[in-house]
Amino acid sequence: MANSLRTNALKFKLLDIIFLLSASNLVFGQIHYSIREEMDPGTFVGNVAEDLGLNIRKLSARKFRLTSADRRKCLEVDLEKGILVANERIDREQLCGQMPACVLSIEIVIEEPLEMYRGEVEIIDINDNSPRFPESSILLQMAESIAAGARFPLESALDPDVGTNTVTDYKISPNEHFGLKVQTAEDGTKTAELLLEKPLDRERQSSFQLVLTATDGGDPQRSGTARIVITVLDSNDNAPAFEHEVYKVSLIENSPKGTPVVTVHASDPDEGPNAEVTYFFGNRASQKVQDLFSLDPRTGEIRVEGLLDFEEASSYSLDVHAADSGSPVIAGHSKVLIKVIDVNDNAPEILLTSVTSRVPENTVPGTVTALINVIDRDSGENGQVQCQIPKNIPFKLQTLSNNHYKLITSGLLDRETVPKYNIPVLAWDSGSPPRSTNKTIQISVSDVNDNAPRFSRPSYTVYVMENNAPGASIFRVTAFDADLDQNSYVSYSFKGNLQNPPVSTYLDINSMNGTIYALRSIDYEHLKNFQIQVQARDAGVPPLSSSATVNVIILDQNDNAPLIVSPSARSGSAAAGIVPQSAGQGYLVTKIIASDADSGQNARLSYQVLKATDPSLFTVGRSSGEIRTIRGIVEQDATTQTLVILVKDNGQPSLSSTVTILFSISANVTESFSESSNLVRTLETVSDLNLYLIIALGSTSIIFLAIIIFLIGIKCKQDGNITEGYNSPICCYRLEDSNDVFTRNSVPKDSSNYCGQTVPDTSRYMVCLSPESSKSDFLFLKPCNPALSQEQR
Ligand SMILES: *[C@@H]1O[C@H](CO)[C@@H](O)[C@H](O)[C@H]1NC(C)=O
Ligand SMILES: *[C@@H]1O[C@H](CO)[C@@H](O)[C@H](O)[C@H]1NC(C)=O
Repeated sequence: MANSLRTNALKFKLLDIIFLLSASNLVFGQIHYSIREEMDPGTFVGNVAEDLGLNIRKLSARKFRLTSADRRKCLEVDLEKGILVANERIDREQLCGQMPACVLSIEIVIEEPLEMYRGEVEIIDINDNSPRFPESSILLQMAESIAAGARFPLESALDPDVGTNTVTDYKISPNEHFGLKVQTAEDGTKTAELLLEKPLDRERQSSFQLVLTATDGGDPQRSGTARIVITVLDSNDNAPAFEHEVYKVSLIENSPKGTPVVTVHASDPDEGPNAEVTYFFGNRASQKVQDLFSLDPRTGEIRVEGLLDFEEASSYSLDVHAADSGSPVIAGHSKVLIKVIDVNDNAPEILLTSVTSRVPENTVPGTVTALINVIDRDSGENGQVQCQIPKNIPFKLQTLSNNHYKLITSGLLDRETVPKYNIPVLAWDSGSPPRSTNKTIQISVSDVNDNAPRFSRPSYTVYVMENNAPGASIFRVTAFDADLDQNSYVSYSFKGNLQNPPVSTYLDINSMNGTIYALRSIDYEHLKNFQIQVQARDAGVPPLSSSATVNVIILDQNDNAPLIVSPSARSGSAAAGIVPQSAGQGYLVTKIIASDADSGQNARLSYQVLKATDPSLFTVGRSSGEIRTIRGIVEQDATTQTLVILVKDNGQPSLSSTVTILFSISANVTESFSESSNLVRTLETVSDLNLYLIIALGSTSIIFLAIIIFLIGIKCKQDGNITEGYNSPICCYRLEDSNDVFTRNSVPKDSSNYCGQTVPDTSRYMVCLSPESSKSDFLFLKPCNPALSQEQR
């Protein structure tokens, strides 16, 4: 240790001498020493005594002392050795700060004689301080958008040392973006600036931590570091980006309001407001689309808002934008494709194109009456339609092409049967569940004149009382025409070629309503029946007609009084007769013969005694007209007897005639007077004409009886089939060209039982005979075989 000190002292001694030589010219001489800072206390600084040439032993006597402006007394003198030593550890930086040269002025004073010496002690800097930054971290914020080349001044590091021991250089930890620019100020101090060499991207690296190192030039070199923390500030340099360029979704039509469709999401790598994304529909989205869908601006959720109708649009394309809240705003774009899935929500529609609503009834089968188009707005199965009409009508559907049909007639139409068809057309689709529609097509069948007028009956029988009032209607025929309107307007007429021309003079017909009028009064005694044909004709084009037979039967009226044929009286006088005295009881005196031009009951005559001289003597057969004696004639009876006979018919009211007969009772006439001779004798008094008439009548009757009996025999054999099974032994005959007698028929009220009805073209009569009929009964026609009368009608 002592050796090292010695070496140090030697070294400084040498320096001092050089210094002294250069300062020897100064008045009191200058001493100059130097010492390095931070030396231990007691370190030798300079041998003052020797350098000033002072005697060491006298030093304390001469009060050798150091007077210094330095109040800290960091130096002192060793009186025994006459040297200057460090009193304490000297810190140059504390003493002199950043002064480049640190010099302590010293004054050394000795007395006896008083002498003062000045000197300097230079404190030599050693590199005992490291560069130090004022803050251990340097916080920097820089926008990511700044351009390369930008510079950021950094706080300098401090190093209290001076000279080369102070900061001489800065360095920065290696990195991609930053460099360092070191500058030297005029005073030699170094400053550093951070240089942005490559642009920043916050999204790639949002902060940097760099180490800044300051080094000094000392030996050994010392250094100090600081952290540079760089925060990159966000610039709105990124658009929000959607996860997908296109979102594809499917959605069932008619999805209820609020159904979520899809949630779009866009991310923005920026920060803060620059990354706050709001969603909205693009400008191109139509109002319609915006009404149908809603987009939550914050969450990006798209929901159904309106009614989705596949038939209106089967897909939607939504432009979706996402914008951040930076300044300026940057937006990102995406598309949402929504495919609408069809649901069978539409029933088929039936469109009728061209309907022939009126079809003539004579339309031939296969005629097109309507064209039908069936539409279903759904698609696929939901839109596949079938069409059908009922089978039980004379119409059918024919497929024209897809969903087009024609309705054609498939059978004959008859307006009179079905005037109108309501054809329900049913259409249904193949959806599940299927939907159906029906529509009714109304087709009217228009009339064609295909029906002739029809009379209510094929033939009519009209009974007309004779002596009818001329001009009165007697009957009305009606014919019905099943057609319509003009085709059904019926007019009536008599059919031209009347068989019995005079008949046409009797009747007339109202062409409008078929009323038949009698033109004149008809006399039954002249005309008993006749037939006419009536014709009904419609107004169609061409017209159709039909005819019916009208049988006119004249009914008898009691308009003829009985006519007494025999005995006949000369006008104004009575008829005369002779009765033999010998005539006994029941003697046939005479027979009254009378006729009545009427028929039936009107011609049925009855006889009665109206007045008699002796009512007890004669009587008249009520129906036979035979006058007979009631008793034998006695002496007392008057020889002349007057008898008034009333002959009356059975009409209502009845008509009558009277005949007065004068009988002479004569004794000369024999009792055995035969009926015929009696008759002949009575006839003696009648006129020749009457006689002939009676003879003719009588003989005719006999011949007629014979013929009848003969005919009965034959006919009953021949027509056995007719009478077979018929209980009563009655036979019916047809007699041709019968005698006048048989025309005097009585007409029963019920014509259905009247088998004596005339056969049209000939004057044939049916006569019924019964065995018990009296002779006069021949005049009456009786009901007979009903089967036969039916057949005749
Ligand atoms: C046709 O429609 C009517 C009402 O529109 C309905 O009453 C009828 O049942 C339908 N017919 C068919 C066969 O569907
Ligand atoms: C028929 O027509 C005539 C003339 O128009 C009329 O006088 C008569 O009353 C009609 N008869 C009937 C039954 O309508």
